[in-house]
Amino acid sequence: MKVFITGIAGFLGSRIAKDLLSKGHQVSGCDNLIGGYLDNVPDDAEFFQVDCMYLNAMKKIIKDHDVVIHTACTAYEGLSVFSPHVVTQNTFQISSTVFAACAANHVKRVINCSSMARYGHQEVIPFREHAVPVPVDPYGISKLAAEQVLQVLSEVHGFEFVNLVPHNIIGAHQKYDDPFRNVASIMINLMLRGKQPIVYGDGLQKRCFSDVRDILTCFSQALDNKVAAGQTINIGPDEEFITILDLAKTIADVLNFKNLEPVFVAPRPREVKYATCSADKARNIFNYKTNHTLRQSIEEMAQWIEKRGAKKFRYHLDVEIINEKTPKTWTEKLFT
Ligand SMILES: NC(=O)c1ccc[n+]([C@@H]2O[C@H](COP(=O)([O-])OP(=O)(O)OC[C@H]3O[C@@H](n4cnc5c(N)ncnc54)[C@H](O)[C@@H]3O)[C@@H](O)[C@H]2O)c1
Repeated sequence: MKVFITGIAGFLGSRIAKDLLSKGHQVSGCDNLIGGYLDNVPDDAEFFQVDCMYLNAMKKIIKDHDVVIHTACTAYEGLSVFSPHVVTQNTFQISSTVFAACAANHVKRVINCSSMARYGHQEVIPFREHAVPVPVDPYGISKLAAEQVLQVLSEVHGFEFVNLVPHNIIGAHQKYDDPFRNVASIMINLMLRGKQPIVYGDGLQKRCFSDVRDILTCFSQALDNKVAAGQTINIGPDEEFITILDLAKTIADVLNFKNLEPVFVAPRPREVKYATCSADKARNIFNYKTNHTLRQSIEEMAQWIEKRGAKKFRYHLDVEIINEKTPKTWTEKLFT
């Protein structure tokens, strides 16, 4: 199949690209490099340095592809209440543009990468696909709105879609010098340079981390799985539900980092305390299985970061709203 991936220099986009190339698909993709790393793009993929916000450019490069996998995004949930302009533009606006380009080009199927943030605060945990979404921040709201636009365009213009909802995916090729996102890789990057991890709030927030190697099969199957058409499907495990403090302990253990004493800073507004998704639907449709433990995922990430070189953090995005609520990690650049 001819597959186009938006955000191909990103963590997920590049891993999906590599996986699909290994399965014999032809892969092209675009990225504007606001995130990701250029050296993530697999050599065998055709690469366009194009911003998804430009409709005519997107129409041109998407032309003649069977499936488009849309991963491009500024996926900064915590930052989105302080930088809503950049986050909504590169989450909601670019999604509408990409879906318009797909509809105009008669792409057969669009696979959208949503996020657990679409669920927001829920009474029932783990989150199931039929739960009524109540996103609580501009990122989650943008993700949900993008899904809704996709559904409408698919109904009106007659193309298929699959809406995949990953959560807390980790693994090699994830950005690790970005102070705004990716808790596990941030902690690894700090500890590899002998620095203590920084924890928002009490560190008792609970999450389930998914190894990227385990979820790739959901993307490759979503290319043509008939049952998946028109469905929203959570992807990722629901077994190892752990606190951020335990995550720090596991990383310290893998890296043999002695005298772990996390630095606590104020909680971030709107951070959901307990968030995990049910993987039952993915088990039924994609035969999803968790094959890697959290420890194995951290080992893979740490080896890749060490090889590429642990490094200083880069404050590459503007914090648009600065007041007493803005995390000091950003205003005082505490990640060094
Ligand atoms: N990694 C996770 O834990 C996770 C969890 C839930 C959902 N997701 C979703 O998965 C997708 C991929 O996330 P990721 O972790 O790989 O993020 P990432 O930042 O590594 O990759 C996203 C890529 O999109 C690119 N991009 C952003 N705006 C763009 C634009 N306007 N034009 C072209 N390219 C643009 C970035 O440069 C980056 O390379 C996102 O849609 C995200 O919301 C990720």
